[in-house]
Amino acid sequence: MSTPTASGLDNVQVADTALSDVDGERGRLTIRGHSVEELVEHATFEEVCGLMWSGALPAPAARGELRLQLSRARTAAFDMLPSLGGALGSADSMEALRAAVGQLRAGDPSEDRLRLTGAIPVFAAAWARLRAGQTPVAPNASLTHAADFLQMLTGTAPEAPRVRAIDSYLCCVVDHGMNASTFVARVVASTGSDLVSAIVAAIGALKGPLHGGAPGPVLDMLDAIGTPEHARTWLGAELTSGRRIMGMGHRIYRVRDPRAAALERATSVLESTGAAADRLTLARAVEREAERILAERHPDRPLRANVEFYTAVLLDAAGVPRTLFSTLFAASRVVGWCAHVEEQRRVGRLIRPASTYVGPAAAAAAS
Ligand code: COA
Repeated sequence: MSTPTASGLDNVQVADTALSDVDGERGRLTIRGHSVEELVEHATFEEVCGLMWSGALPAPAARGELRLQLSRARTAAFDMLPSLGGALGSADSMEALRAAVGQLRAGDPSEDRLRLTGAIPVFAAAWARLRAGQTPVAPNASLTHAADFLQMLTGTAPEAPRVRAIDSYLCCVVDHGMNASTFVARVVASTGSDLVSAIVAAIGALKGPLHGGAPGPVLDMLDAIGTPEHARTWLGAELTSGRRIMGMGHRIYRVRDPRAAALERATSVLESTGAAADRLTLARAVEREAERILAERHPDRPLRANVEFYTAVLLDAAGVPRTLFSTLFAASRVVGWCAHVEEQRRVGRLIRPASTYVGPAAAAAAS
């Protein structure tokens, strides 16, 4: 007798990992021995790269070296732009990113992870400027990864609160257990394929609205709702028409996603710039109403805000266009993907699950 099919692989353990742990009941995310809240509040993206790739937050000298290596990687990616052909021509930023990253040549894995991490914000910023009819802006080696992304995007020196908000975001979403894109990267790695191929596949998985594609639609939702008084009617109509509320619900969390809280706090640094105050007020009201209405319709299934809800608010307030939200997610998660690929390589075993055949039986051979 065949075993029942677990179509979403819920609760199926596919790896031992030292990279991150998601406690869905208690709403905790641990990344290499550090809580996500600690990393968002106290670490920089460069430090988190060191943590993910070497297992410990880097000492100042190693941190400086990593910052230099990433800035060199951004410059190398910028130099590639003229040879990318039409790769950045797509109207969809994730499609453009997938095509552009696919043009990187695979080589030594530890150099590839730097090249990939350096390239994604460069390709994302260049894509946005080209779509707006502007010339791409070259990286500035004196800036951090987060600041340089904003500088390449806008062509101006970024304000400190915006840099801090982007840096917090990049620290927050760097890894998250066996999420869909990470699993995809590990499957590719398990075949013995190269890191670039694994990352291209992971970008494809992240693109979907049930994974990394939700924050753009969250912002569309906030725009459509407009004011807190309209939230209930709008959300009700959305559910009645069979659509899901973006930014709500999670496969693992049964409480509020801790990253939603961390990003909500990180967004408040932008309130002083005036960029976030109204959005935050509206977002909080919509979140409360969405929780209420989802609890009424799904009393047995807690559906609370996930990371994408406040990603939308933070990135918008930091001046990132919504068309770039998923690419910025990739700019952070690539660090986790690379670490998982390395971990999977050490396992050295092909991931090859089974399926249950439900098609017609083969016709009996004519005697
Ligand atoms: N809005 C409305 N209903 C939702 C919902 C949402 N955001 N999330 C889940 N549900 C409902 C489902 O319709 C389903 O209802 P049913 O049992 O009556 O059919 C029930 O809750 C369970 O959903 P299920 O699809 O089994 O949950 P999942 O674990 O597969 O889904 C997500 C997890 C993230 C895919 C889902 O919550 C979702 O689609 N959220 C919106 C997209 C999003 O924010 N994605 C970013 C994730 S970080």
